[in-house]
Amino acid sequence: MAAARLVLLGFALLGVDGASGAGPPRVKAVKSSEHINEGETAVLVCESKSAPPVTDWVWYRITDAGDQVIMNGSQSRFFVNSSQGRSELHIKNLDMEADPGKYACNGTSSEGTDQAVITLRVRSHLAALWPFLGIVAEVLVLVTVIFIYEKRRKPDDVLDDDDAGSAPLKGSGKPLNDKGKNIRQRNNS
Ligand SMILES: *[C@@H]1O[C@H](CO)[C@@H](O)[C@H](O)[C@H]1NC(C)=O
Ligand SMILES: *[C@@H]1O[C@H](CO)[C@@H](O)[C@H](O)[C@H]1NC(C)=O
Ligand SMILES: *[C@@H]1O[C@H](CO)[C@@H](O)[C@H](O)[C@H]1NC(C)=O
Repeated sequence: MAAARLVLLGFALLGVDGASGAGPPRVKAVKSSEHINEGETAVLVCESKSAPPVTDWVWYRITDAGDQVIMNGSQSRFFVNSSQGRSELHIKNLDMEADPGKYACNGTSSEGTDQAVITLRVRSHLAALWPFLGIVAEVLVLVTVIFIYEKRRKPDDVLDDDDAGSAPLKGSGKPLNDKGKNIRQRNNS
């Protein structure tokens, strides 16, 4: 009797396993967070691979004041593009102040409803500029340092050049030749 029940339980578990594609929707965000520049278009995507397929998609914004459903075409910036098993929310001309936050997609099939949440962050144009400004600042500092260094060095260098350049030149003609002779003589002997 007990053995028969165990076998039955085993079949029941196998049955649940085998039907993994079917049943209520299992909505997943393709990317659970997005980080996009202001002015650009965000594309938030949800999918459900369950059968029967999700046929109704609802997008909404999660705010402290409650959930706000996003209608297709609202503010001429929010567009919903849905098909069976997949839905996209396009947000055009992203705004730094208004648009960052949590968005949820709610997918409903004949078997039920499930939802996923996507976090949207919006980067300012300035943020994209910072690395470039950093390099410009670095170059400016380097150029300034080199300029100051050169300006301080120049009078000394000119004097040094005069001392070092002309003095040895006058006296170096003969000793150099002598040295040359000595070497040659040494080589000959
Ligand atoms: C959403 O709106 C756009 C333009 O306003 C339209 O082309 C599109 O068919 C609409 N989509 C749905 C699912 O209503
Ligand atoms: C809507 O999505 C389908 C694929 O799911 C795509 O082929 C189509 O171009 C999209 N339409 C818009 C207006 O984004
Ligand atoms: C999802 O939308 C359905 C109606 O389409 C609604 O009944 C349900 O409460 C929503 N689920 C959540 C978690 O908001």
